[in-house]
Amino acid sequence: MTSTASDVLDELAAIRVLPVVVIDDPAHAVPLAEALLAGGVACAEITLRTPRALEALEAMSTVPGFLVGAGTVLSERQAEESVALGARFLVSPGASTRVIRSAAALGVACVPGVSTATEVMAARDEGLRTLKLFPAAQLGGVAMISALRGPFGDVEFVPSGGIGIDNAASFAVDGVASVSTSWIAPRSEIRPDRFDAVTERARRFRHEVAR
Ligand code: 3PG
Repeated sequence: MTSTASDVLDELAAIRVLPVVVIDDPAHAVPLAEALLAGGVACAEITLRTPRALEALEAMSTVPGFLVGAGTVLSERQAEESVALGARFLVSPGASTRVIRSAAALGVACVPGVSTATEVMAARDEGLRTLKLFPAAQLGGVAMISALRGPFGDVEFVPSGGIGIDNAASFAVDGVASVSTSWIAPRSEIRPDRFDAVTERARRFRHEVAR
């Protein structure tokens, strides 16, 4: 059964943690997904910032029970390529109408980045209610989420940027769908001898944001 964009957003919210990963070698994609799964985190956002990111995405999309999406999606072309290779959701640092509409046309979930009330309104106008708050820590973290939730009580945020194990727990609040971080699998730790450490970090981070 094919899941809808809304099902995917529900799944991401149930997982509560969204690891942001920068993969240089596609051979690391499957073992990385397995390491995350072992730590109880069944999803990842592969950023399109490396030459072989799409190959990594394609490989990771074959892992059963694992939800993979593309991050740093800046163009319609990247949206189309990612979805063709298995991305189930698209994340952007900002709210590009073009990317949002591509995702809708492709039938996948889109989590665009916002950092102001005006951007929240623009994304709401496109029908979206789950938005990435970026860069979350720099914007004031949970205080910013609480301020935005005043006028936008129907919006759920995925805070991202500057979140690690030390401040993760502050995001275990209403209005946070999931917490995004590169802390679980930093680029330098995505290598065979560090996958156990990734599993342990996934467990620890998940525990911090559990409600
Ligand atoms: C990013 O775009 O890299 C994400 O927002 C993750 O940010 P972080 O590296 O500060 O966790």
